[in-house]
Amino acid sequence: MRAVVVRRGEREPTVVEQPRPEPAPDEALVRMLRVGVDGTDREVVRGAHGGFPSGADEMVLGHEAVGVVADANGTDLTEGAVVVPTVRTPAAGGDRSWFERDEADMAPWGSGDFHERGIAGADGYMAEYVACPAPSLVRLPPEQAGDGFLVEPLSIAVKALEHAEAARSAFDWQPESAMVLGNGSLGLLALGLLDADSRFDRLYCLGRRDRPDPTLDVVDGLGATYVDSRETPVETVADVHEPMDLVFEATGYARHAVETVHALAAGGVGALLGVPEDWQFEVEGGHLHRELVLNNKALVGSVNSNRRHLAAASSRLASLPGWLVDRVVTGVYPPDQLDAAFTDDDTTIKTAVELNEYEER
Ligand code: NAP
Ligand code: BGC
Ligand code: ZN
Repeated sequence: MRAVVVRRGEREPTVVEQPRPEPAPDEALVRMLRVGVDGTDREVVRGAHGGFPSGADEMVLGHEAVGVVADANGTDLTEGAVVVPTVRTPAAGGDRSWFERDEADMAPWGSGDFHERGIAGADGYMAEYVACPAPSLVRLPPEQAGDGFLVEPLSIAVKALEHAEAARSAFDWQPESAMVLGNGSLGLLALGLLDADSRFDRLYCLGRRDRPDPTLDVVDGLGATYVDSRETPVETVADVHEPMDLVFEATGYARHAVETVHALAAGGVGALLGVPEDWQFEVEGGHLHRELVLNNKALVGSVNSNRRHLAAASSRLASLPGWLVDRVVTGVYPPDQLDAAFTDDDTTIKTAVELNEYEER
């Protein structure tokens, strides 16, 4: 079968032939349909995030998957069911209780308790067939066999918003304004979720592009205000527009984590999702500390998602407007068109690699 890998020392993905995996007990064999590509995959390919499985010189890419159970292998899964797998999988010798509680998304990075498939320490999902632990698979409605690769990235936003909200649950938080930092696929999907949330009257999205641009068409289509960071840096947004009740950072630009504090309204919360590389810069620490304290502001970091978030994201995907999904997904490519699938130009928002076609039962 074909699989898309990155090899040690290389900076681009390659298609290789691999044997079809044999599922172990408690694993099912999944026939992969489509696997999405995001900023993290590009970081993994260029060696900036994650790492190879122990002792391996290549890793199968891909963590945003939708597939069909091909062989339930004695598990309680149903053959033919459309499924999305969690990204985290137990590591040999690690603490499995994170998985037993469905809280593997909260396990410490580097703990040795988990691998992230296609990202850190374990082969991913960009292969024709993949063996998956049965508990890692969340069932999707068959209508999501095509777009179901959006469930994992949506689940990232679902979790982050849940944690941001939880950080404001000790008082009567009534948010009206929200700003998403970043017009990549994660930022635009988060903007779609916020648009569907009736509490938010005013939405903003920050980028650094000139019009015409397909991501800005999505921002406009959602009725959000585009904020160009070259003209209006994040720390000036509160003055130029308004203080934000919620900021959702999806740029990976480390200064934004700090500047978010100054964009927030009193009692506001910033959810940080970017995964930047090391970068030292000066911060006015006194101002930052004072702002957080005197205005009851909160910053919440959020990574990954669990089964519950994947299930919620499937429901949220079903209620997103069709035009949004059509605009965000700019291309679905076969494995022999990896250049197109992994490209990162200004006409590309979200792509996927199609490993198999869905055959309805
Ligand atoms: P992406 O496609 O690379 O999107 C990043 C976007 O941010 C791009 O549109 C980029 O604009 C914009 N941007 C970067 N710096 C900016 C600046 N200074 N001012 C304005 N806009 C700026 O990546 P993605 O897949 O959407 O993911 C976004 C970030 O979240 C990445 O850091 C990724 O690693 C992280 N992530 C985290 C999780 C998690 O679980 N926490 C999950 C998924 C992704 P241009 O395209 O114009 O350069
Ligand atoms: C994935 C998450 C993962 C994170 C950190 C993201 O792109 O969607 O599942 O936890 O990267 O590696
Ligand atoms: Zn991702």
